[in-house]
Amino acid sequence: MDMRPIGVFDSGLGGLTAVRALWDILPEENLIYFGDTARVPYGGRSKETLLKYARQDVRFLRSFDLKAILIACGTVTATSLSTLQAENDLPIVGVVEPTCRRALLVTKTKKVGIIATLASIRSGAYEATLKRLDSEVEVIGKPCPLFVPLVENGRFRRGDVVIETMAREYLEPLKAQGVDTLILGCTHYPLLTEVIADVMGPDVTLVSAGEESAFELKRLLKAEGLRADENRSGTSEFYVSDQTEDFERIASVFLQEDLRQAARRIDIEQY
Ligand code: DGL
Repeated sequence: MDMRPIGVFDSGLGGLTAVRALWDILPEENLIYFGDTARVPYGGRSKETLLKYARQDVRFLRSFDLKAILIACGTVTATSLSTLQAENDLPIVGVVEPTCRRALLVTKTKKVGIIATLASIRSGAYEATLKRLDSEVEVIGKPCPLFVPLVENGRFRRGDVVIETMAREYLEPLKAQGVDTLILGCTHYPLLTEVIADVMGPDVTLVSAGEESAFELKRLLKAEGLRADENRSGTSEFYVSDQTEDFERIASVFLQEDLRQAARRIDIEQY
C-alpha cells in the first residue's frame, strides 16, 4: 500500500475532468492538482515553451512526495510526455494513448474524429498513436482553438450562443465526413459535452481524454503495487498560478463540490 498523493496537472480547469473520474474510480487516493491558470491556454504555444511550462509544472508537483503523476492535458502529453518520463523517476501517465485505445474499442466504422488544441493536432500524436494501434483507422483531426478560452471564461453551457456557434463551426465539417467516434483530445472539452453532442448527434460516440487517463492510472497503480488503502477516503488539494476565485467558482460547478477558498495560489516561475 502506498499513501503518497498523485500529482495531476493541466493548464487550467481541463484536468478536473480527470479529477472527477479519479474521485469516482480511486476515491481512496490523495490528489494534488495544479492548474497553470496564469499561462492558460497552452494550446497555441510552441513545443519549446510547452516543455518549459511542463517541466515547471512537474517540478512544482514534485515539491510533494508523489507516487505518480497524471498529465491531465492533451497538449502537454502530445508534445512532452516522453521527455518528462525520461527525466523523472516516477510513473507518469498521459492522456493520448489511453484515449486512442478507447476510441478504437468503440468505433465500428474505423472513421475517428479528433478535436484538440492546435499544438496537439500539429504534433500528430493522436493520429500517430491511432494508426500505430490500428493501421486501418481513418483519422480526421480538427483544432478548436477557441474552446479553451471560452471554457475558462465559464462559457460552456448549452444555450450559450457563443459556444454553440463555435461548436457548429468547428464540428459540422467532422459530422459531414461521417465519423462515428469523436475523441475529445483536450481535457477541457468534456465540459462542453452537451454542446458537442448536440452538434454531433446521437450516432457519434464521444471519448473523453481525461476520463480514459484516469482508468489507465488505476491500472498502473495496481500493477505497480502503489494503490492506497481502499477503506479510506482520499483528500484533494488544489493549486493554481493566478487568482483562485475564478478557478474555485467553475471547479465547484463542475465537480459539484463547494470549493470556495479551497485553492491556493503559487508562483510557478519559481520552479
Ligand atoms: N486542457 C489542455 C489540453 O488537454 C490544455 C488546453 C490549453 O490550455 O490550451 O490540451
